[in-house]
Amino acid sequence: MIIKTLSENTSLSDSLGSEHGLSLHIETKRHRILFDTGASDLFAENAKKMGVDLSLVDLAVISHGHYDHGGGLKAFLKANSKARIYLRRQAFDPHYVKRDGDVKSYIGLDKTLAENERMVFCEDCFVIDQGLTLFSGVRGRAFIPTGNKILLVNQGDGFVLDQFAHEQNLIIEEDGKTLLLAGCAHAGIVNILYHFKENKGSLPNIVIGGFHLYNWNDKEKEETKIIQHIGKSLLDTKAKFYTCHCTGLEPYNILKTVMGKNIEYISTGSVLNL
Ligand SMILES: [Fe+2]
Ligand SMILES: [Fe+2]
Repeated sequence: MIIKTLSENTSLSDSLGSEHGLSLHIETKRHRILFDTGASDLFAENAKKMGVDLSLVDLAVISHGHYDHGGGLKAFLKANSKARIYLRRQAFDPHYVKRDGDVKSYIGLDKTLAENERMVFCEDCFVIDQGLTLFSGVRGRAFIPTGNKILLVNQGDGFVLDQFAHEQNLIIEEDGKTLLLAGCAHAGIVNILYHFKENKGSLPNIVIGGFHLYNWNDKEKEETKIIQHIGKSLLDTKAKFYTCHCTGLEPYNILKTVMGKNIEYISTGSVLNL
């Protein structure tokens, strides 16, 4: 399996742009998968430079309804004429962030795309194909990201705190290996792993994604002690972690001191052969 980071907050090279967002291209034996599109069409520009032909992607997954994961959807629909896009129905709900002075800014997806016939709305547990499953409905409350407190949904008659019913995670099983992919892990990466274990009876071998330990909006990271506790919990799973995006570089460095070789950072341009 080959996983290429098409866009992320940092880049390995000057010729590949970076942005606050996430987009991965995953080549398995049976599929070419796009996991999130980043915030803009940057993922498509980088794909060309990295030798990824987006027209050959046969399925796309949007992890949740925030612009930094689905902002490039229109560009993907233009570049690819066949792939279905798997996401939660609630991904198109109007999501907002509360900024200083109670100003609310829209951070959701382009709502006009909800009617597109290639969208597939997924239930709590959704099997795409053999060895390819999506799950949501994570209910644990351990180490919920502090940054969630300013993330809202507009219900028409007012704003309520986002409960992240629109977030889903992808499981890939191939050659005896199990991968878990999370977009932002708003439900908390420890809870997502716990939910995974409860449902599958074992833990994944490899975990890839953002863990939301840095809040991009108010530029604050999670407390060091909390990050260390999370690192210890992740280390206990014995999985290998590749993280990026909303984990943030400073929190990553704290995780690295706790987890050592069990965690690595992936940037735009990274290629993993797993
Ligand atoms: Fe994100
Ligand atoms: Fe998010």
